[in-house]
Amino acid sequence: MQQQANALAKSASRRSILRAGLVGPGLIGAGLLTNALPSRSFARDAELTEGDIAILRFLCALEIIETDLWQQYNELGGIPDAEVPGGTGSPLYQAALNNIDNDMSQYIHDNTDDEFSHFTFLNAYLESKNAAPVNLDKFRTLPSSQATGAQQIGRLTNLMLLTIDTSWWTRYRSSTLNPDFGDTFAQAVPGLNNGQFPAIPRSDADLQPMNHIQAIANTAAFHFGTIEQGGSSLYPSLAQRVSNVEVLRILLSIGPTETMHFQVWHDKAGNAKPITDPTNGLTFPNLSVAGISEDLQANLIMPEPTIFLNRRFPPCSIIRPTETKGAAIAAVRALSADGLFIGQSPGFFTLLHQLANEADEARREV
Ligand SMILES: [Fe+2]
Ligand SMILES: [Fe+2]
Repeated sequence: MQQQANALAKSASRRSILRAGLVGPGLIGAGLLTNALPSRSFARDAELTEGDIAILRFLCALEIIETDLWQQYNELGGIPDAEVPGGTGSPLYQAALNNIDNDMSQYIHDNTDDEFSHFTFLNAYLESKNAAPVNLDKFRTLPSSQATGAQQIGRLTNLMLLTIDTSWWTRYRSSTLNPDFGDTFAQAVPGLNNGQFPAIPRSDADLQPMNHIQAIANTAAFHFGTIEQGGSSLYPSLAQRVSNVEVLRILLSIGPTETMHFQVWHDKAGNAKPITDPTNGLTFPNLSVAGISEDLQANLIMPEPTIFLNRRFPPCSIIRPTETKGAAIAAVRALSADGLFIGQSPGFFTLLHQLANEADEARREV
């Protein structure tokens, strides 16, 4: 028996969860019950490496952060209900959002519901592997909107002072550039990347004049795309360094839902009304005007084929970027640059950077 246990331990890679003592007795018992050395596929199915756990924990942290921001959108602009509880809605903000598309409130609700499920599943899976779940509750310290309809609870994220990078818009329309080659991209809404703007009403004073609340709704519409395109890149970027096949399946199953969200928001942002906010001068250009360049044209939402891996290959329609090196810390930097964490404590940044660095250290072990 001891010999078999030793052989099982030996079959695990150096940095495996088994060696790290994180596997429960049930798993080892299951292997021994077969009265034979574990097959290679058993080993692959059963073990999580430290890197796998680090990747799952980082993704779980980001999903908790995503949930926090989507929850704020749902309370005021979505459909608070038994499925996604909290808040009572802000009719004028909802009207401005639904002025962009009739289904905006429904989509906000459903995106929020999905984010809850992502972090809840990831934490349950981590716990099933005797790995520590992620909990960011002690960092829920940021203020809520004072607008009627919002819950008055501590938040992880700030949606009232955002600087939004809208370069994903032109990045997905370019046929010659790719961020993985170091290329940079123009903004679809330059104003949003140059200042700090609310994406939810900060109080009921923000509900008028009409072009002010519409600009807040437009800001949200572009922020939705910014957030979800980030997830669309992050999952395939990190999947390249997963070792366990089941963990790979998790990343390959959640990641594309981020892309489904992104594609919807990409389409909806193109309907944002071309207006100027009279209170701060923030201007939304008309991206549907005749003669506009293809890098900006609103209805070109399918990923334009572009260079991939090597310029000698023909252009390919792809998610971009998908470079795996430093992908986790790049995601944290992008969210921070957005202003999403304005007001957060040093401890929050320390933990988030630690989780990202551990995920970035993960190496594929086969
Ligand atoms: Fe998510
Ligand atoms: Fe998402």
